[in-house]
Amino acid sequence: MKSTAETYGGMARLIHWASALLIITLVGSGFRAGFATDPEVKLSAWSVHVPVAVFVLLLTVFRLIWWLRFDRKPGPVGGVPAWQETAAHWTHRALYLLIFVMLASGIAMSVMSGLPDAIFGTAPMPELADLPPRAAHGIGGRLIAAAILLHAGAAIYHHLILKDRTLTRMVSGR
Ligand code: HEM
Repeated sequence: MKSTAETYGGMARLIHWASALLIITLVGSGFRAGFATDPEVKLSAWSVHVPVAVFVLLLTVFRLIWWLRFDRKPGPVGGVPAWQETAAHWTHRALYLLIFVMLASGIAMSVMSGLPDAIFGTAPMPELADLPPRAAHGIGGRLIAAAILLHAGAAIYHHLILKDRTLTRMVSGR
């Protein structure tokens, strides 16, 4: 369950891949809603996006508790240059920060507009475009998409070009 000095434990891997899948779903459904001109398409994208976002919120709280109270990150993979370790460290920080910004701006946008009443009730669809958190959500959405591409690209580069354990230890724990 727990990580060792060399590799990630089962719980860390489960949290990582569940978060990855859910956050990629959020980026897809978010842009689908953001770019939709047909109100029905927008509403159907919102009804996927908002419940998944609530799940990501709960999973992120659990993730923080897991790392702060129960587990420790493994040490660096041997042979990785120091600048790559530093780049990875800051990309991971940026991802955490962007997840926080997206959750906070999404919640603010929903509270200010009464969005849940339109998704789960019978209220008319609110206009979100003029809300200040909507602008933050749009900028954060583009930045998190870029950070995910950088993060996944680096993992694939380590696996295919450098042929080290960076990706393997997050996939199989070996
Ligand atoms: C990690 C968390 C989240 C991620 C990665 C995420 C991602 C995105 C992205 C990429 C967009 C498209 C932005 C654009 O088109 O400019 C978007 C739109 C949207 N997000 Fe999120 N989001 C998150 C959390 C939330 C939360 C917590 C809520 C509300 C409870 C929310 C509600 C919305 C809504 C309503 C839209 C569509 C806005 C529109 O139709 O104009 N999001 N999201």
